[in-house]
Amino acid sequence: MAWNDWVRGNEVEPSLYGADFSRLGEQIDALLAAGCRVFHFDVGDGHFVEPITMGPIVLQWIAPRIHAAGGVVDVHLMVESPARYFEPVAKAGGDSVTFHYEAVGDVPATIAAARAAGLGVGVAFNPETEPEDVAPVAREADLVLCMAIHPGYSGQPFREETYDRLRRLCALAPGDRLIQVDGGVGAANIGKLHEHGASLLVAASSIFGGGDPPAAYRRLVQALA
Ligand code: DX5
Ligand code: ZN
Repeated sequence: MAWNDWVRGNEVEPSLYGADFSRLGEQIDALLAAGCRVFHFDVGDGHFVEPITMGPIVLQWIAPRIHAAGGVVDVHLMVESPARYFEPVAKAGGDSVTFHYEAVGDVPATIAAARAAGLGVGVAFNPETEPEDVAPVAREADLVLCMAIHPGYSGQPFREETYDRLRRLCALAPGDRLIQVDGGVGAANIGKLHEHGASLLVAASSIFGGGDPPAAYRRLVQALA
């Protein structure tokens, strides 16, 4: 199983970083019931990004209930030396890892290491990084993640230059490469992001920030359709 089997055309991916962690399982179940199948799980190490977020120890508790409903966990590694975490993430039930272009020396070798661990794989890049530098080395990845904020915290404003960066990325990425956007995604921009080639839309605050995550998830799916 790989990304092309998981993705139903387009996917809205709730970023669990925005969840109420005292009710994590309950919020996941409600989103599964609303039709969500791809969950985004943010790992921050306090070095590559400022916050320490969560990791395999939390993942091992939530992956089984997501898998039981036919879902997958897309792990965004906002960490230095990401390859160190591939085996622990795979063991904890992660289905795919996305590491940062800025965090590794050899992108193709790191993609190969993720595959060797039995994981799907993505390459993320920050607002300061040129899409033209990433696209050629990310050829063997399943997805390329264009960050629309500086990674680290949810709730930051969407950066408008993301549209131009997506246009440049799409011009270089082969057609079977999935394009993901993370940061500031909501009802106001999700349609336009899709028009610019993004098929995987990650959202934390616009799903968990109000009182009803499943309703907010459904609204974003409708806005994308
Ligand atoms: C933080 C994470 C994002 C974050 C998005 O950099 O990578 O996934 O949770 O949060 P929002 O949707 O609130 O910008
Ligand atoms: Zn993320």
